[in-house]
Order: sequence, then C-alpha cells, then structure tokens
Amino acid sequence: MRDIKKVILPCGLPVPALGQGTWNMGESSGSAAAEVRALQRGIELGMTLIDTAEMYANGGSEKVVGKAIVGRRDEVFLVSKVLPSNASRRGTIAACEASLRRLGVEQLDLYLLHWRGRYALAETIEAFETLIRDGKIRQWGVSNFDIDDMMELGELTGGDGVQTNQVLYNLSRRGIEYDLLPWSVEHKVPVMAYSPIEQGRLLLQASVTEVARRHSATPAQIALAWVMRNPRVIAIPKTGSVAHLEENRASIDIDLDAADFEALDRAFAAPKRKRPLEML
Ligand SMILES: NC(=O)c1ccc[n+]([C@@H]2O[C@H](COP(=O)([O-])OP(=O)(O)OC[C@H]3O[C@@H](n4cnc5c(N)ncnc54)[C@H](OP(=O)(O)O)[C@@H]3O)[C@@H](O)[C@H]2O)c1
Repeated sequence: MRDIKKVILPCGLPVPALGQGTWNMGESSGSAAAEVRALQRGIELGMTLIDTAEMYANGGSEKVVGKAIVGRRDEVFLVSKVLPSNASRRGTIAACEASLRRLGVEQLDLYLLHWRGRYALAETIEAFETLIRDGKIRQWGVSNFDIDDMMELGELTGGDGVQTNQVLYNLSRRGIEYDLLPWSVEHKVPVMAYSPIEQGRLLLQASVTEVARRHSATPAQIALAWVMRNPRVIAIPKTGSVAHLEENRASIDIDLDAADFEALDRAFAAPKRKRPLEML
C-alpha cells in the first residue's frame, strides 16, 4: 500500500491528502461504536486528518471523534468548525471551548468558519487570532467561500492567515475548476474537498463504474482518486464502516490515465463559465 501524499498548508504544516469526514456521526448511540472503530482504523492507515464541526449531530460528532482519539491525540490533525451564528468575537471563543470539551482535547489543529454569516469577517479573524494566542487552536481557515469571499478575506488584516477553504468538490460538482481552484493553487491555499463521493450518489454512475472496472477498483476509489489528482486538494470522505474505510484508503494506489480522464470528462464536463459555489 502506498503512503498517502501530503499537502502543505500555507503555515508549512503537512497534512494527508486523504482524511476522514464525520458528518452524521454521533446521530445515534447504536452506530457510535462502529463509527469509533472506523475512525481508529483510518488513523492506523494514515488518514489522520479528521474533520468535524459543532453543527454535526449537535456536538455528537465531536464526542464520537473524542472517543476515537483517546490516547492518540498526537497522531491526529483535528479540524472543527464554528457555526456562522456563533462567529462573533466572543461567540467564536465560547464555541471553540465547547468543541474542545466535547472532543476532550486542549487544542484544535485547524478551526474553520463553517460558512459566511452575519458577523463581519474581521471580527471572526480577531477571535481566531485570540484563540491561537491562547493555544486553543493552531491555525484557522474557512469553508464554503467562493472566490469573491476569498478575495475579500485576503484584503483584511490577518486574512492571509487562512490555511484552507473547505468546499463541495467531486466529479459531479466541478464548478470550482473555473475560478476558485486555480485561484487557490495560485495563492497556495489548499482546497479541502467535502462530499468527495457526492454522499454516495456517484457510485452508481455508469462512467464511474466503467473506469472502476478497468482498474479492478470500486467506484468510490475512482471518485476519490479523481478528486486527489490535484496536488493541492485534500479529500475527506465520511464512512462509519471499517470495510468502506479500507476501500477508500486503497484509492491512493490508483493511477488514473488519460483514457480515464477523458471518459470522466465526457460524463461530467468541466465548467466553461462561472458557476456560483454550490453547498450541501
Ligand atoms: N463544510 C461543509 O459545509 C461540509 C458539508 C458537507 C460535508 N462536509 C464534511 O465532508 C465530509 C464528507 O462529506 P459527506 O459526508 O457529505 O459525503 P461523502 O463523504 O461524499 O459520502 C459519505 C457517504 O458515502 C458512504 N460511503 C463512504 N465510503 C463509501 C464506500 N467506499 N462505498 C460505499 N459508500 C460509501 C457513507 O456511508 P457509510 O458511512 O455507510 O460508509 C456516507 O453515506 C463530511 O462528513 C464532513 O466532515 C463539510
């Protein structure tokens, strides 16, 4: 099995290009043990970037992640997010402290603004900087920011501290390739691709299953290999199943060739004009 390649954040920290999402984890006590097992298997296999948010299961996802990383905090690059409704100067700090309690850790590696809301970005940045000074987070970033939001952020004092923009990106959601992705590559701000297998909807698409057949692979592996073909993109698939987790990890061993890209481009055309950033 190949090692997972690293993506370097603007601050110089390397993170794995294949991490783990956790949306919908912690929703039911019945599935929590399986979710913990899947996350732990992912850590063992090098998928050490774990993405959660205060929003997911109302804090329940952070609690599941907290259980999965007991005794192995140092192996993990932990990402969580503040809801826009909490993203004021004081609210961001209170939200972060609550996330830290649920996760059972003293520091987040990366704290993201989940999407833009009513608070001025300058206010949220100030809160992020306070959290860094107090040792509660190492770095900060954003999510669901389109190119105009990124440009606006870049003009603010401290805005150049942004480490990533987490956005919807997969074969069926290629809009960012028109402008946001080239901008991100040029400015060396990695994109963290959420819903990289379109929440499972890509897995039955004929073009994806056909490419998978050629590689003796699965459609999920093809969808993930495709997202990670760009060296500045990090994919964070979610799974609560060890079997799916191991399958997703093996996407690293796939080399898509020109014929594969052509077939996938025919089925999922690259954007020819600006499309507003989509969200899930
Ligand atoms: N910033 C944002 O606004 C935002 C929005 C959405 C998502 N996210 C983040 O991105 C992560 C990933 O996105 P997502 O959860 O929306 O969608 P996703 O990762 O594209 O898909 C997850 C779904 O696919 C299934 N799955 C995973 N691997 C599979 C495999 N190998 N074979 C078959 N099914 C498989 C999972 O079910 P099983 O659990 O049964 O495997 C789950 O139902 C989230 O969990 C979250 O951390 C962020």
